[in-house]
Amino acid sequence: MAFSLANSTLFSKPSIFLHRRSLAFCLHFSSISTALPSDKVHSPRKWRHPVAASLVELGGVKIAREEIVKDDPTNNVPDSIFSKLGMQLHRRGQHPLGILKNAIFDYFDTNYPNKFNKFDDLCPIVSVKVNFDDVLVPADHVSRSYNDTYYVDSQTVLRCHTSAHQAELLREGHTHFLVTGDVYRRDSIDSTHYPVFHQMEGVRVFTPADWEGSDTDATSYAAEDLKKCLEGLARHLFGGVEMRWIDTYFPFTNPSFELEIFFQEKWLEVLGCGVMEQEILKRSGRTDNVAWAFGLGLERLAMVLFDIPDIRLFWTTDERFTSQFSKGQLGVKFKPFSKYPPCYKDMSFWISDSFTENNLCEVVRGIAGDLVEEVKLIDNFTNKKGMTSHCYRIAYRSMERSLTDEEINDLQWKVREQVESKLKVVLR
Ligand code: DAH
Repeated sequence: MAFSLANSTLFSKPSIFLHRRSLAFCLHFSSISTALPSDKVHSPRKWRHPVAASLVELGGVKIAREEIVKDDPTNNVPDSIFSKLGMQLHRRGQHPLGILKNAIFDYFDTNYPNKFNKFDDLCPIVSVKVNFDDVLVPADHVSRSYNDTYYVDSQTVLRCHTSAHQAELLREGHTHFLVTGDVYRRDSIDSTHYPVFHQMEGVRVFTPADWEGSDTDATSYAAEDLKKCLEGLARHLFGGVEMRWIDTYFPFTNPSFELEIFFQEKWLEVLGCGVMEQEILKRSGRTDNVAWAFGLGLERLAMVLFDIPDIRLFWTTDERFTSQFSKGQLGVKFKPFSKYPPCYKDMSFWISDSFTENNLCEVVRGIAGDLVEEVKLIDNFTNKKGMTSHCYRIAYRSMERSLTDEEINDLQWKVREQVESKLKVVLR
């Protein structure tokens, strides 16, 4: 377990890593502008992924599909992911993610007027260096693997966390900032995991003048300030809840903590944070400073604040969902419009050495899109010859309509075909 709060346990599987040529096209910043060009998104009711547009504008730069989705062993970005680039749900004032982002901004604006610079339009295509190296993620860390991260080429990824922007913003001279953005992770499929989700990163830098007057050392001073700030934020979002701090590990902070709140009868992990590793500050030319940093997952918090039961709903354009939220209204409870029946299909196969669940999920999502609700391992055994069999149960369910037997069978048939051809497994 390492740094994976928001959506998924990115960092728990063996590492596969490929090396090849590099590409750098969207590695500069554009700063925040609050207006979104349009609140419209693509094709609401289709069950298939819409054919991806061939151009997307990211942080003011136009990028062609061919630069992101390539038939090349160093590239593992499918069309279904390309079609999410540039959607920027966090910049829609009436979307639960935009409402939550603005509520967090309100907290910082009230408590630290004109202090924090906000960035929410930084390009999600970043170098391996900023995503991993600059925040001290070890060279053999599982999060770098091809199985867990989307690589555009061997030196370029779709950011897997907003921490990717820490070091560059520090180098540019920013000392108080919040970065909100879409992040990308290959993962399993269930109601809380989606390969694209949204995070907010916060950083505050202190100078010796800040802590010298206090009785504490620089690190304790920053840690105390961090905890006070984030407890205030949790109260702002959740009201008077019970909280607790858990010691943990992140490569980029020391000490590192997680904040949990007692909400709806359960302890809920809210965010990860800590005192920034001195090495990050040093490399950014800030040897004499200390800083704190935090990262939180917007979907995770929005799901509890708005009672949203399935992470796929954030992507729907069904008015029965979108019309329930309005600007500035944090915590309005979502009323499910209808629950359509699920349909379960089981599939058993002998796995190969290279088989991973993330690869299976990508195949299923590539075919069924948002009609797949869950992919779950329900049986697993190894025979005397050493062959391992897995049985997966796939739950298909639309959030918008009933599915017909015919279309499910069609989907399942395609899934079986592609699982066999792409994953080199033997169906049983
Ligand atoms: N980057 C971490 C993740 O994706 C979250 C995080 C934890 C960010 C601690 C931070 C931090 O800035 O200090 O799970």
